[in-house]
Amino acid sequence: MMEEEFYTVYKGVYLPSSVYTPESLKYFEEFVFRPDDIITIIYPKSGTVWMQEIVPLIMSGGDPAPVDTIVNWKRVPWLEAHQTSSLKLEQRPSPRLLTTHFHYNMMPSSFFEVKPKVIYVMRNPKDVFTSSFYHHEAASFLVNPGPQTEFLHKFLDGKVMFGSWFDHVKSWLNAEDREHIMHISYEEMIMDLKDAVGRMAQFLQKSLDHEAIEKIADRCLFKNMRKNNMSNYSTVPRVFMDQTKSEFLRKGIAGDWKNQLTVAEAEYFDTVYKDKMKDFQYKFAWE
Ligand code: A3P
Repeated sequence: MMEEEFYTVYKGVYLPSSVYTPESLKYFEEFVFRPDDIITIIYPKSGTVWMQEIVPLIMSGGDPAPVDTIVNWKRVPWLEAHQTSSLKLEQRPSPRLLTTHFHYNMMPSSFFEVKPKVIYVMRNPKDVFTSSFYHHEAASFLVNPGPQTEFLHKFLDGKVMFGSWFDHVKSWLNAEDREHIMHISYEEMIMDLKDAVGRMAQFLQKSLDHEAIEKIADRCLFKNMRKNNMSNYSTVPRVFMDQTKSEFLRKGIAGDWKNQLTVAEAEYFDTVYKDKMKDFQYKFAWE
């Protein structure tokens, strides 16, 4: 299959055509939010599945039943994905737990009217690239990444699924009405998961005692979470995702780019990063 056949261009951004269809994008555009919806918003490969574990556990007060019995894509569905309209989200009780990979300016009108709670997660883009490179090798619905340097150029040019990492992060950090948006980084979560869970619970106005926070953080540690068959994609047939090539829950660390990028690639990355972020004031956890 030619590269362009893998993608639909939607609002200037590449989307894998087999997962995001005209019908599913229409469903997203017409989605009616509620003020108490909780949406995790994340550029791909920055910790989406991790958040699909953490947020339901916070909301259940640490009861593992939702994450033990419901697969992640039904538990916290992607609003834009093709299977989502069949989940009858309009019938789910509040608070509904939702996710999306979209940029701020791609959100539907109801989002701006209702202003539901958002947790936006960011990750060092060099690690996002590394994770994405392996994910593209394993997933048959994604473009073959080809040689690493070639894929790096595509990533830095935003010619990958969900477009430019730079545009995505800037769009959500520059969002208006920021009091309904919490920003957190993958690196902060790696550094101190208990603290991150506690802060998220506070933002979600869920009162949790120390013991519950500890229990949730422990369950969501990489080594524990990767055993959860409802979250590790082991139920997905190998023809869609061949985890013998790369597991979905692959390494779960900060800084793996150092094992992956050549010196020249890392230098090129830094040059592009500096240029794209030069007028942007924000102290990221990885800087
Ligand atoms: P790596 O490929 O670097 O291991 P997404 O869910 O947005 O696609 O992101 C996937 C990345 O998040 C993968 O990164 C995956 O291992 C990591 N991840 C998932 N759960 C995690 C956890 N509990 N702790 C740390 N990293 C986790």
